[in-house]
Amino acid sequence: MMKNMRLDRYLCEMSEGTRKEIKQKIKSGLVTVNGQTASDPGMHVDRADLVLLGGRPVVYEEFVYFMMNKPQGVLTATMDKKQQTVLDLIDEKTRKDLFPVGRLDKDTEGLLLICNDGQLAHALLAPARHVQKVYRADVKGIVTQKDVESFARGLEIDDQWTARPARLTILKTDQTAGTSQIEISIVEGRFHQIKRMFQAVGKEVISLKRISMGPLVLDGRLEPGSFRRLTDEEIKELKKLQNG
Ligand code: URA
Repeated sequence: MMKNMRLDRYLCEMSEGTRKEIKQKIKSGLVTVNGQTASDPGMHVDRADLVLLGGRPVVYEEFVYFMMNKPQGVLTATMDKKQQTVLDLIDEKTRKDLFPVGRLDKDTEGLLLICNDGQLAHALLAPARHVQKVYRADVKGIVTQKDVESFARGLEIDDQWTARPARLTILKTDQTAGTSQIEISIVEGRFHQIKRMFQAVGKEVISLKRISMGPLVLDGRLEPGSFRRLTDEEIKELKKLQNG
């Protein structure tokens, strides 16, 4: 439910300009609330109010969802004093409540959902939901059928943790270089999970990219570092997960 909020913030969150520009628009009489010209940027509005800017309705959008192709070298965090974060890459900065859903390591790239919908995030991340995450990786070492079987059985990582069964597919091996390309599907999301799984079989992840999370698949047209809004269809599919 949308909160009661200041008019300038409402317009700002709906990407109608910077706070300063919006104040200017209000002062110039361009904004009406329920048919009355607004003069105070600090007046409070809520969902029931009809806000027009230059005669055009500005409808409040409660939730926003972005798909990002996270580049390597960027932190999955909302902010950091020293390092660039995924939120720094979103230039539609008007919303203060965006956060990344789950975490990719700094050197991992690929699909990252960024939104302000806490319930959906919870549904995607709750361990009991077993949402599938698919990754592609380059691995140092030759991944074998035996590895595929141990991953499928559930790999013992240490005496505290046996990973849930994971589907490992060998895409390519290069005997000369001693490297492999794999795809892996996991239903957990532990810290450094895939790197630790390969370590447990004596191999090393060289590069890692997330391809999908539940029904959401990385848009191949997104260059690393770029993002787009989710389509209505994608949101609908994710919501099924939330309601299921
Ligand atoms: N597993 C990892 O090791 N790193 C990630 O970023 C995601 C899964």
